[in-house]
Amino acid sequence: RHVHKPLNHDSAVKHVRGTATYIDDMPEPIGTLHVVPGWARQVVRGKLTSIDLDAVRKAPGVVKVLTADDIPGVNDCSAAMGDDPVLATDEILFYGQVVFAVIASSREAGRKAALLARIEAQPTTPIITAEDAVAADITVLPDYQFRRGSPETGMTAAENVLSGVFQIGGQEHFYLEGQVAMASPQEDGGVMVYTSTQHPTEVQHTVAKVLGIPDALVVAEVRRMGGGFGGKESQANQWASLAALAAAATGETCKLRLDRDDDMIMTGKRHDFRVEWQIGHDSQGRIRAVDLNFLARCGYSADLSLGVNDRTMFHADSSYFYPDAVIRSRRLKTDTCSNTAFRGFGGPQGMLTAERMIDAIAITVGKDPLEIRQLNFYDAEHNLTPYGMPVEEHEVMHDLFGQLVESSDYWARRDEVRDFNSHNAVLKKGLALTPVKFGISFTLKHLNQAGALVHLYTDGSVHLNHGGTEMGQGLYQKVAQVVADEFGITIDKVRITATNTSKVPNTGPTAASSGTDLNAMAARNAARVIKDRLIDFLCKTHQCGAEAIAFQDNKVFVGEQQFSLAQVAKQAHLARIHLSDAGFYATPNITWDRDSAGGRPFFYFAYGAACAEVTIDTMTGEMTVDRVDLLHDVGHSLNPAIDIGQIEGGFVQGMGWLTTEELVWDEQGRLRTHAPSTYKIPAASDIPEDFNVALYQSRGNPQDTIYRSKAVGEPPVMLANAVFCAITDAVASLNPGVVPDLDAPATPEAIMKAVRSIRRAQ
Ligand code: MTE
Ligand code: HPA
Ligand code: CA
Repeated sequence: RHVHKPLNHDSAVKHVRGTATYIDDMPEPIGTLHVVPGWARQVVRGKLTSIDLDAVRKAPGVVKVLTADDIPGVNDCSAAMGDDPVLATDEILFYGQVVFAVIASSREAGRKAALLARIEAQPTTPIITAEDAVAADITVLPDYQFRRGSPETGMTAAENVLSGVFQIGGQEHFYLEGQVAMASPQEDGGVMVYTSTQHPTEVQHTVAKVLGIPDALVVAEVRRMGGGFGGKESQANQWASLAALAAAATGETCKLRLDRDDDMIMTGKRHDFRVEWQIGHDSQGRIRAVDLNFLARCGYSADLSLGVNDRTMFHADSSYFYPDAVIRSRRLKTDTCSNTAFRGFGGPQGMLTAERMIDAIAITVGKDPLEIRQLNFYDAEHNLTPYGMPVEEHEVMHDLFGQLVESSDYWARRDEVRDFNSHNAVLKKGLALTPVKFGISFTLKHLNQAGALVHLYTDGSVHLNHGGTEMGQGLYQKVAQVVADEFGITIDKVRITATNTSKVPNTGPTAASSGTDLNAMAARNAARVIKDRLIDFLCKTHQCGAEAIAFQDNKVFVGEQQFSLAQVAKQAHLARIHLSDAGFYATPNITWDRDSAGGRPFFYFAYGAACAEVTIDTMTGEMTVDRVDLLHDVGHSLNPAIDIGQIEGGFVQGMGWLTTEELVWDEQGRLRTHAPSTYKIPAASDIPEDFNVALYQSRGNPQDTIYRSKAVGEPPVMLANAVFCAITDAVASLNPGVVPDLDAPATPEAIMKAVRSIRRAQ
């Protein structure tokens, strides 16, 4: 059996050897041309007055130059809202917007030619920050809020009210494989698109829309991505569309691979926020009322900002019960790149806000933040979230948290940290233990469905396909394990194949951590249908009942007899039994209705907890993460090796977001951090020296998920909140009773700023 075993990722060896084929590694057909997006490097925002591309057209190697006028269909690559031009028409909406596309014999020639464009615009003052957009009162989507009880009355009744403004930075995905697509024209006017996307169906649909041809003429395929992290959920559409447009215009295969700087400048990122918070509590530190205003920088278009900001609201409680609450969200329109999905999808920003408020209460009432966390946890009596969904597994939450308090030796280390700080003037330690509770399901209900295609061949081998995409997270391997076990065969008999819209149609994105939950179910359903047909056939031929039949060890047992699966498949084929099935799955029990803000948005929650210890240097702002203990709930793990990898990777990515990764736009609205020289993702040396990761011994997901497992992709990102809270704790040690003015990311500069201001505050 394969399920629950720590098997390697199916491509682990290829990843390490460098032999895994990404799109840029695919053989290029003879005559392949290269597409390079061109943009106005002098313009941030303004009406276009002239586009002079003569010099570009005349440059060596250039075959054709495309502008918006060359688009036969609709000039839009948005997921739904119609506000993302593939190529700019009459105005530049942000610094980095694509105005034209060069098609050239080589990428180098195209890149050189693109620089020769002369684009002029009537500049207007851009709106860059959330504050600017609030002042201009401009949004990409309507405001939205949840309200429970009367937070106004609650604040009045509270013994103490705290408030503040918290800035939370965004994050660049920094997938190792940048955005890339390769499109080949087909003889019937269709196009085959190889695209590095989490959402092949949306690429298919977008390409069809842009070319003005039916969806059926477009096939999108992706074998693997070199990371997506949400950055290829909607953001792959534009590059696939440009490659397809070029293919249609030239009749040749056309490839577009974004330069890293262009990728960072042009594509959307994690939303940054200004959060205005107010919390009322009693003298013990128990929360009475909460008033939150989430101001998100969405960029020039809506993209996925509806779902992202809703998820921020759904996670603004972290793991805490808010008796009376109002949670408001504004989706601000700024003249910057259009912010998008990023692992956690708005959840991290909501949860970090809750942890900030808890820290503020703890510092104010003079208790350990851990006590305030536990005091405010959901429990049997207080288990309704502000949006009305019950926290059914509050016992798991308490048990998991309690176990980590023990295994991390929190209270003994609290004494050691206090002792260290009293003996060190410059270096200060901080410690924090924070919870994770993350809702699993797309909050847009129709996305919670999946399809699979399974063929059993007459030699007993199996072809597996499904709508989920592989971005490194191990989805293909997990689904293959499930299918292998269903047929009782070894995993080498299961061929894993590239995600392809002509095999499984009308899929959702691989996102919201639900790839395995959805696709493994769909694939198992398909395998079961085939197996049931075989059982039926065997019952008839052997005059036995279904209970006499078992599939295992690459064999089929019928009573005392045994056959190879190949023998059975061949016999069934001769008897004209259908050995292929298209499986389907739709998540049950989700009823969220956004308009009435009621119902159940999530199938279940995934839980975790993290304990982090840090040291800061109060003279320089430098910070090291000394020790991290993670305990995470994946239900019954389908593959503990992959799950632990996801927990480690998610945590480190979250730590990067909160400590070193800083996006800087200058006053004119130009992104200044568009290369690894200025944008610092975590490196091997940033891994905590003492890093302990464990899976929670679960009794299994109470919901009927695949083998009672839980989704793992995103929740671990929020384990990194412990690092931010530990830094807060270290700064707070400088002046007991004062809440540090620390924003995220806690870069050395931010830490220095917080240190200086807390020292001044008396
Ligand atoms: N792991 C790797 N190695 N690469 C990725 O791009 N994306 C994350 C997570 N883990 C990602 C990853 C994100 S944003 C999500 S939503 C999930 O994987 C998606 O896959 P799943 O639903 O199959 O877990
Ligand atoms: N994460 C969480 N929820 C989502 C996502 C995602 O990437 N996409 C749409 N809903
Ligand atoms: Ca990006």
